[in-house]
Amino acid sequence: MIIAAEQLSPIFGAKISGFDLADDLTDETFEAIRQIWSKAGGLLVFHGQKLDIEAHIAFSRRFGPLFGEPGEASLQETVSRYIHPEHPEIYRVSNIVENGQPKGRKGAGTYWHSDVSFRETPAQASILYAHEVPEVGGDTLFADMSGAYEALSEAFKALLTPLYAWHDFEVAARRQYARPAVIEADMDGANRARHPVVRTNPQSERKSLFVNPGFTSHLYGFNADESATLLGQLYGHAARPEFSHRHRWRPGDVVIWDNRSVMHYAVCDYGEAPRYLERTTVISDRPL
Ligand code: OGA
Ligand code: MN
Repeated sequence: MIIAAEQLSPIFGAKISGFDLADDLTDETFEAIRQIWSKAGGLLVFHGQKLDIEAHIAFSRRFGPLFGEPGEASLQETVSRYIHPEHPEIYRVSNIVENGQPKGRKGAGTYWHSDVSFRETPAQASILYAHEVPEVGGDTLFADMSGAYEALSEAFKALLTPLYAWHDFEVAARRQYARPAVIEADMDGANRARHPVVRTNPQSERKSLFVNPGFTSHLYGFNADESATLLGQLYGHAARPEFSHRHRWRPGDVVIWDNRSVMHYAVCDYGEAPRYLERTTVISDRPL
């Protein structure tokens, strides 16, 4: 089977057209999709999909175990109210309120981040499926952290390579969640992890920067000013337009990103216009 893919930008991202993810995919076809995704730096877009929840989960499961799946880790308690009640693998992102209950997490990820980077085993693929999106607004930005790493000088790469950074859900909790919404048990250490600043994606074998302003608290071994300066430099560099892609959603879009080499940012500019998306999150190996 020949799968036609188009580049989204010279640096990263691909789009596959004329493909139905709800079909039973052979192992060969799935592998071909995963290759395209990996070669495209871990960002892949599909339009016009009609996936029921079971199909979304079944497709996602081929990438690896999922957060929330029976027997696997769940996401942090604070977001448990946004998990689909019958499908614990599905995390819901939405500003819609139904019968006084939020249909999903409002304003999820409105800062540069890599999903779940505060866990020892953070996220690999996130697979986000758009049900309802504003006519205009509510785009998601993606940054290519492999491209960003590779563009650094050899001297700077050498400086970064031996470093570690701490990631902590509390960074987002302090800044992004109204304090009463946060489940205090999420602060007890299970959502805190130390990872290498430069990690290698075992699939693409490319190195990428693995720090993000959403969850990284500080560089290990540095004092606060040093850490803030160096991280600020990396964030400014990685967020340059050359390394980024802005996805404008349409209903039926499925976007798959690789949190090992991509960070993302939800643009919250659409007011009350209803927006509803469902996400599955694949668990990664420990970053190396
Ligand atoms: C996410 C996220 C982006 C968006 O689902 O992980 O950050 O645009 N969402 O909703
Ligand atoms: Mn996210």
